[in-house]
Amino acid sequence: MSNVVLVGSQWGDEGKGKIVDLLTARCDMVVRYQGGNNAGHTLVVDNKQYIFHLIPSGILYDNKKCLISNGVALDPIILIEEIEKLAGQGIKLTPKRFGLSDKAHVIMPYHKALDLARESQSGDFRIGTTGRGIGPCYEDKSARVGIRVIDLLDADRLTDKLYIVLKEKNILLNYLYGSDIIEIDPIVETYLSYGKKLAPFITDTSAEIASAMSSGKKILFEGAQGTHLDIDHGTYPFVTSSNPTSGGACTGAGIGPTKIDHVVGIVKSYTTRVGAGPFITELTDETGQHFQKKGSEFGATTGRIRRCGWLDMVLVNDAVRLNGFSSLAITKLDILSGIKTIKICTAYKCGAEILKIRPACLNKLAECEPVYEEFPGWNESLSSIRSKDKLPANAVNYLNAISRISGVPISILSVGPDRNETILLSDPFI
Ligand code: GDP
Ligand code: IMO
Ligand code: MG
Repeated sequence: MSNVVLVGSQWGDEGKGKIVDLLTARCDMVVRYQGGNNAGHTLVVDNKQYIFHLIPSGILYDNKKCLISNGVALDPIILIEEIEKLAGQGIKLTPKRFGLSDKAHVIMPYHKALDLARESQSGDFRIGTTGRGIGPCYEDKSARVGIRVIDLLDADRLTDKLYIVLKEKNILLNYLYGSDIIEIDPIVETYLSYGKKLAPFITDTSAEIASAMSSGKKILFEGAQGTHLDIDHGTYPFVTSSNPTSGGACTGAGIGPTKIDHVVGIVKSYTTRVGAGPFITELTDETGQHFQKKGSEFGATTGRIRRCGWLDMVLVNDAVRLNGFSSLAITKLDILSGIKTIKICTAYKCGAEILKIRPACLNKLAECEPVYEEFPGWNESLSSIRSKDKLPANAVNYLNAISRISGVPISILSVGPDRNETILLSDPFI
């Protein structure tokens, strides 16, 4: 099979970056298809840690092409920083190695200002966004007043578009939120300079993908965030503003659904969430602290502590349905070592009702209690284990339960942050 989509099945931070890095060895091209620098994807290779917010997590391989496609909300400042940081580490990006869609929407200063102003004035209704301007950028895309990457190459077009858009944004910023007005001239100058820097990489990524496909290349589509942060299917309004779910790869990269051969769902062995919103299996006790400390559950983008809890298979099963997972990659299994009894949530109890599907109504969700199945834990460290048959029987039992409850086979097991700390059970590209 040649084209694989990789999607987080929970609320993000499942370990997508690590698995993308791992699978890049088995393909020719990696495409980031949605989200922006709200994402933080961490990879560890030979004890060296890399965190990417925009650049696809396959970039460490010098003979693979990485693309940022049209569905991404692109902050050029962050992209340029990432390119320069990589250069400092001896990784020089050339157009042969990296491309950026001419149609991707650009995060502008007023998007960031609006995101921060709204969050600071929303009190209990705060979403807990990353403050990176993601929501306002996608709003403008839908309102058809967005600035696209291609606009950064044309002074007249950029000025005309900004003239219209800033009229409205400045009223909001100044009168509603009491923030400073944004002047047009400095923005035009600065963003044209970003356009100039990025120009060598700007291309029609959908056409590049099609051409790679027609020459038999294998392509990995990298999702950011996770299924339950999806704007349509997530815990709305506590979601992001794009579609991380597998269908988002089609619109976000400009490919047809018939081109997708395999969808890998990344499932962290327990659940985490950054930001506000419902979390049925959240733990505020010492087990929650165990996940938080042992799993280093700090946001890679904002440094916020991630909320932690037991694995919630109601969420994972929703993700199986929404994404059509072909296989699962289970990450952070090593973090469960040392827990006496491990729980998996298999349903929600809401009054007299037992729910197998997360309700859309957040008030109803707030009344839900988790229904748990319990599993005996194990004490052995897993990080040096490289084959499934060497895992403690109770760890295998836990994995089998995930597969049984989801009805999806497991292709990859991750037992540590490093590229090598992985057990590949089957290759999604074959
Ligand atoms: P992403 O946003 O889905 O790419 O995930 P993040 O990178 O934000 O968070 C996952 C964190 O867990 C990173 O620090 C990874 O290095 C780390 N990680 C990934 N897989 C494993 C694993 O199997 N075990 C451990 N201990 N850490 C892991
Ligand atoms: P990766 O790709 C975890 C969360 C934010 C907030 C909500 C909306 O690293 O898994 P936004 O800034 O997108 O408007 O914030 O979404 N969020 C993430 N949580 N991992 C991410 O990305 C996230 N990207 C956004 O915390 O709750
Ligand atoms: Mg992350």
